[in-house]
Amino acid sequence: MDGISRDCRVLVALLLPDTPAAEALRQALVSCAALERRGPMLQFEHCASLEATLALASRSGELQAVVVDSDAVSASREALAALRMRRPELDLFLMTGGAPGEDCPGRVALLDRRELRPEHLCRQLRNALGRRARTPFADTLKDYVYSARDAWHTPGHSGGDSLRDSPWVSDFYQFMGEHIFNTDLSVSVQSLDSLLEPHSVIHEAQVLAAEAFGARHSFFLTNGTSTANKVILQQLVGNGGKVIVDQACHKSIHHAVVLFGAQPVYLAASVNPRYGFYGPVPRQRISAALAAHPDARLLVLTSCTYDGFRYDLKPIIAEAHAAGVKVLVDEAWYAHGAFHPELRPTALECGADYVSQSTHKMLSAFSQASMIHVGDPDFDEHRFRENLNMHMSTSPQYAMIASLDVARKQMSLEGFSLLQRAFDLARRLREGIQRSGVFRVLELGDMLPAEILDDGIRLDPCKVSVDVSGSGLGAREIQLRLFNEAGIQVEKTTHNTLSLLVTPGTTESKLLRLLQAFGRLAADAPGPAGRPRAEEGPPPLPPLSAVVMPPREAYFGASSLLPLGDARQGPNPALEQAIAADQIVPYPPGIPVLVPGQRITREILGFLHALQHSRRGVEIHGLVQQGHNAPALRVVAPAADSAIPTSKEKA
Ligand SMILES: Cc1ncc(COP(=O)(O)O)c(C=O)c1O
Repeated sequence: MDGISRDCRVLVALLLPDTPAAEALRQALVSCAALERRGPMLQFEHCASLEATLALASRSGELQAVVVDSDAVSASREALAALRMRRPELDLFLMTGGAPGEDCPGRVALLDRRELRPEHLCRQLRNALGRRARTPFADTLKDYVYSARDAWHTPGHSGGDSLRDSPWVSDFYQFMGEHIFNTDLSVSVQSLDSLLEPHSVIHEAQVLAAEAFGARHSFFLTNGTSTANKVILQQLVGNGGKVIVDQACHKSIHHAVVLFGAQPVYLAASVNPRYGFYGPVPRQRISAALAAHPDARLLVLTSCTYDGFRYDLKPIIAEAHAAGVKVLVDEAWYAHGAFHPELRPTALECGADYVSQSTHKMLSAFSQASMIHVGDPDFDEHRFRENLNMHMSTSPQYAMIASLDVARKQMSLEGFSLLQRAFDLARRLREGIQRSGVFRVLELGDMLPAEILDDGIRLDPCKVSVDVSGSGLGAREIQLRLFNEAGIQVEKTTHNTLSLLVTPGTTESKLLRLLQAFGRLAADAPGPAGRPRAEEGPPPLPPLSAVVMPPREAYFGASSLLPLGDARQGPNPALEQAIAADQIVPYPPGIPVLVPGQRITREILGFLHALQHSRRGVEIHGLVQQGHNAPALRVVAPAADSAIPTSKEKA
């Protein structure tokens, strides 16, 4: 059976009535499965009740399908809905006495028990599984490579032929491997469909993705979620519409605001200055903005954030919809969310109209491989395709598209067990770090800024933040020592925390080595009374200030360049109260501390100056270098600036 090896274990739950006929059916299914020589062996488990079936769904990653006999449950519709809620990816079958009009949730196959043939049911089960196991694009790409065609088309390396025998660059070919080259093909290969106008294998792969992620439509992107966000903003506010947006959102949203001349209503994010996290926007602030801006077209939120904060999205989205506002949720860090009940509901399940996801961040896709999922009932597909095509390269990387197809297949078939394992690793990581007695894993209560304590915010267990202040070492020093002494690269640091990402690719060995390294660091740490090193890392985050001028005007209007530092090596006072003309983004985490049109406060200036001086591992995008280590900021030219009221003046 294509796409499923004989080694895959596949469990089917049978929720049948306690009757001799049902037992006979179970035995017949076992015999039929044993006789089948193709594909994986189906195994059947009898479940005496819906509760037992749900319990099995909560513990077994091998469970792939459930057959429910309507005689075994009092309300089959509710039973199926409960199973769907628990594990949306499962193949569901409902067996009835043929009663017409049996109303059941989508994607449930109906069976008439009076004419049920066990061998046919086995085939149906395999067929449903086979559908999820298909990777239409990845398979076609593989087939094309194995069909060994001659290339008279781009790219110029021609399947690697230009490098393979070169005395100068064949080492690169050998290192990368042949398939990175022979899967890198031109859009002229028609059997590989067109990413810009999908009608065959890419279209099929996107339909399967929409089913797996719970969207009306899904679209693949080879330019990351940075592009996904721009496409969605262009769709909704492309001709200067009003958008309510978390000011601590990813820089791509701010770029879109400038590109499309959108009118942003910025929502101040909560800040946890102690640990250097921007948190979610307080619920009440979102409600107030929705009420104050009835002409807004779009609300943009990030969930979960880089640090793992998830909004309680359902009431927020309902409120936005009631106000006639569409909702984009940036799930760059949450592509795994649909595949485990602990992580759900996803933004789509909460009613989001658009979701952007970096499939590559948390799942097994290549970097830059992202998806847009659409839930909008008013979706204008023609316009969307046009908007998408304005941002996409006409030469997409096929390996990336194939990796999206494969990442979807993997999560649909083994996402639940991979995430169970990831949660277990994350739990043991947390416990192991706590045991060091020196380093402390931050729990939600430690991390949440006070103003959002009652907003129903949750934490993605795959994002682990570690407070290092008890060690007397700076986070940056620990980051370097983990790298240099133990070969471990962490995700990011703040001045006193490290962030670790647990993904389906995290292994027991990596966990062992990390805990061993933390143990060694703890053993020779000076402790809080020792040498304080907090100043060695990035400085604490400043509160974000008001945006007092339309970002597009600030970006494209007259500007001047002012040095970040003054003659005495301090922050340049001339910058204080100036208006930024560029976006200034420390990376990571990629959240701008200044966007065009934003007032530069003393705190932000001090932060940038300190960050520039620490310069350890953090890039600051948007500064202009005027010679060696002489950064400057582009600010709105004073004449233009003086005409602009401050936010206080406006109020
Ligand atoms: C919240 C958020 N959105 C979007 C992006 C951009 O994603 P990509 O790297 O896929 O372009 C990032 C990247 O870090 C991010 O953190």
